[in-house]
Amino acid sequence: MLEMRSLSLSVTVRGRTVRAVTDVSLAIQPGRVLGLVGESGCGKSLTAQALLRLGEYQGVRREGGDVLLDGSSLFSMDQQTLRQVRGGRIAMIFQEPMTALNPVFSVGTQIMDVIRLHLKLNKAQAKQRALRLLADVGLHDGESLLAAYPDALSGGMRQRVLIAMAMAADPDYILADEPTTALDVSVQTRIVALLRKLQQRRNLGMLLVTHDFGLVAEMCDDVCVMYAGEIVEQAPVRDIFDDPRHPYTRALMQCRPESVARGRPLAVIPGQVPPPGRWHRGCRFFDRCALADGACETHPALDCWQRGDHRARCVHAGKEPA
Ligand SMILES: Nc1ncnc2c1ncn2[C@@H]1O[C@H](COP(=O)(O)OP(=O)(O)O)[C@@H](O)[C@H]1O
Ligand SMILES: [Mg+2]
Repeated sequence: MLEMRSLSLSVTVRGRTVRAVTDVSLAIQPGRVLGLVGESGCGKSLTAQALLRLGEYQGVRREGGDVLLDGSSLFSMDQQTLRQVRGGRIAMIFQEPMTALNPVFSVGTQIMDVIRLHLKLNKAQAKQRALRLLADVGLHDGESLLAAYPDALSGGMRQRVLIAMAMAADPDYILADEPTTALDVSVQTRIVALLRKLQQRRNLGMLLVTHDFGLVAEMCDDVCVMYAGEIVEQAPVRDIFDDPRHPYTRALMQCRPESVARGRPLAVIPGQVPPPGRWHRGCRFFDRCALADGACETHPALDCWQRGDHRARCVHAGKEPA
């Protein structure tokens, strides 16, 4: 199991160090998909990157908590073990297939580098594996693809190549950060189907970062909703759709195209996600919430409202929506 326990992170904004993620706990289990949802700027990518300790290269600091892979702390691993974990046990698929590939090297060089970093294979074996991986992600003209440069590929093909690279060393966990956001809608559907197939066939544990509830419904078993650097609601996927409890989750659900009558404008949540350092000291959704009152001046705990494994960080979560 890949587990995050009470993790807090800080970033430096204009010389000031501020909390950007606080007290996030979540677990990714083999064969299950955990969705991490919320508007842009909520801290989803920081959280996903912390599962591989990637943020520390961009000035992100761990202020507390831990990440455990089968019980071992990623933060007490030596660099060599960490390199094996990255890509070997846990692989990441980023949002931007355009920038995640290096334009200077051929697709073949990049895939085979990953394969040979993690598996003891000679060049010919690595090439065979690369061709099989490409076929697995639906790219059948493998030989000419290996010789191609990223520039020559469409967005959808690049994302398939990145998925093939993520699968190169047979990882147990995949962290996918908005893997389809940068793609055309028709391509998105096919990439989602591919991810789903690979996840099921290989029994992968997956973290899917997205703001697309359609994708959540299709892919996820469990959902964490993030707002202003913390989890505000956590539940099995059914409960998120059938019985959302946090006003933020309810607002997000009302913004879905499916929940709006045809021809009517899409609902939007007024206001913006406050950036790190600008959070309300009580409930961080205070300024945008119709239910906010004096009781919300104190920062609520995630188990403020709880039923089974459904939790909501809101003192008014027990109220029925108007
Ligand atoms: N390396 C960094 N340095 C400073 N601020 C950062 C850094 N990374 C992210 N942030 C800030 O932290 C907040 C959360 O970012 P992020 O995790 O990327 O959000 P999301 O993925 O949910 O859109 C944003 O306000 C962003 O500007
Ligand atoms: Mg992001």
